[in-house]
Amino acid sequence: MKTILYLAMTPNGYIARENDETPWSNEEWEHFSTVAKRVGNLIVGRKTFEIMSKDGDFQELGNPFTLVLSKQENDDPKFINSPEQAITLLKEKGFSEALVIGGGMTNSSFVQSGFVDEIHLDIEPFLFGKGVKLFADADFDLNLKLLKIKKISENTVQLQYKILK
Ligand SMILES: NC(=O)c1ccc[n+]([C@@H]2O[C@H](COP(=O)([O-])OP(=O)(O)OC[C@H]3O[C@@H](n4cnc5c(N)ncnc54)[C@H](OP(=O)(O)O)[C@@H]3O)[C@@H](O)[C@H]2O)c1
Repeated sequence: MKTILYLAMTPNGYIARENDETPWSNEEWEHFSTVAKRVGNLIVGRKTFEIMSKDGDFQELGNPFTLVLSKQENDDPKFINSPEQAITLLKEKGFSEALVIGGGMTNSSFVQSGFVDEIHLDIEPFLFGKGVKLFADADFDLNLKLLKIKKISENTVQLQYKILK
């Protein structure tokens, strides 16, 4: 199982404004959408799930198999309470790749769990002085290898990193 953490962010490390708004470009969405459709699954934090559901994003992505990380009890089987449970379920479903798409708390939980193999970051041309950080504060310290720099539009590059284990 190859687990990719995929986010759009500002060059100064924010994935959303303080009020959760995101101004990302259509080209960025198209690129993300192509990857999401290829992989066929998404792992999101409970807060991101609520925002994306309200915006109709899952329908736009063709309703990929989605798992929601939450500590709360929930009878809905898409709600899972650990990164390990998410990866185990996706393996059982026969997926060979997993796509973790945030937000910041979920990203930190996943890199701490050791399941993330690659981090793909679409660097968008905006700067916010405050906002939601790519990784919520947590205890981890990782070394990366730069795998690829991909230009996905006039204004946006994607950095692909491998987490060295
Ligand atoms: N730029 C991008 O590509 C991108 C992508 C996605 C999201 N975003 C932005 O990110 C923001 C949301 O990020 P966020 O950090 O506030 O929230 P989040 O990561 O989306 O969701 C946080 C919730 O996930 C659950 N969770 C996290 N770690 C867990 C663990 N180890 N075990 C069990 N449950 C866990 C908890 O749910 P419970 O409270 O239910 O227990 C927690 O409250 C929004 O502004 C959104 O727009 C940006």
